Amino acid sequence: MQSSTPAPRPMFEPFHVAIIMDGNGRWGVGQQMTRADGHRAGVEALRRAVEAAPELGVTTLTVFAFSCDNWRRPAPEVATLIELLRAYIASDAARLVREGVRLVMLGRRDRLPSDLVEEIEAYEAASIGGTKMTLRIAFDYSARAAIAEAALSLGPGATLDDLDRLIAGPCGGPVDLLIRTGGEKRLSDFLLWECAYAELWFFDGMWPAFASDDLATAVDDFRRRERRFGALLADPAAAIEVSRVAA
Ligand code: FPP
Repeated sequence: MQSSTPAPRPMFEPFHVAIIMDGNGRWGVGQQMTRADGHRAGVEALRRAVEAAPELGVTTLTVFAFSCDNWRRPAPEVATLIELLRAYIASDAARLVREGVRLVMLGRRDRLPSDLVEEIEAYEAASIGGTKMTLRIAFDYSARAAIAEAALSLGPGATLDDLDRLIAGPCGGPVDLLIRTGGEKRLSDFLLWECAYAELWFFDGMWPAFASDDLATAVDDFRRRERRFGALLADPAAAIEVSRVAA
């Protein structure tokens, strides 16, 4: 039960939004175009989200661009996605750095072309002081692999806090709001650790159709939710009311 509309969160509070950008291929085919066209339109939707997010108070935006399981797709589609990442870095990274957006890549780098990895690392270094927002792009990423790697590197004495810190990496940490487009309702091995208490928001449309207004709607819905993290309601009066209803 929701007792009242919570006050808006202050803009400086950390606010981590993560997006599973699903539905590019279906959108392309639905427009009588190709799956690759759908992915290209997906990059445009990403640009819109990156532009709109800081105004909505988002401090970290993590997007899922390519999973470790996506290598199972036909080679031309895999090549398209790698080239779209390269093109996005080439066209947008310098401007993002100027605007104060920090860029962080998640996932394996050893299977990407070495010149692309060099470009990524140059922009990660150049943007390190960015304070407007952190954009984390997960590419060749698996949450299970990230968790296993962190646990193995810490060894048997590791605590949950140690794991939290290592898995978070720069400007990561717990996800507040997880958005998935494309009508599916699954996590697909994305940020499994960080989403322990994430609020989930699903969009039935395809990712290329996701507008900045849709991001604003998701954030607005999130701000109306009461997060309890396993505890009781924050408002004691509401807790009493809930217990009366339950009795
Ligand atoms: C899932 O849709 C989407 C992906 C596997 C790729 C997401 C990539 C982008 C949005 C563009 C790439 C951006 C960068 C910066 C590299 P899908 O292809 O599984 O769609 P479907 O469910 O309709 O088949």
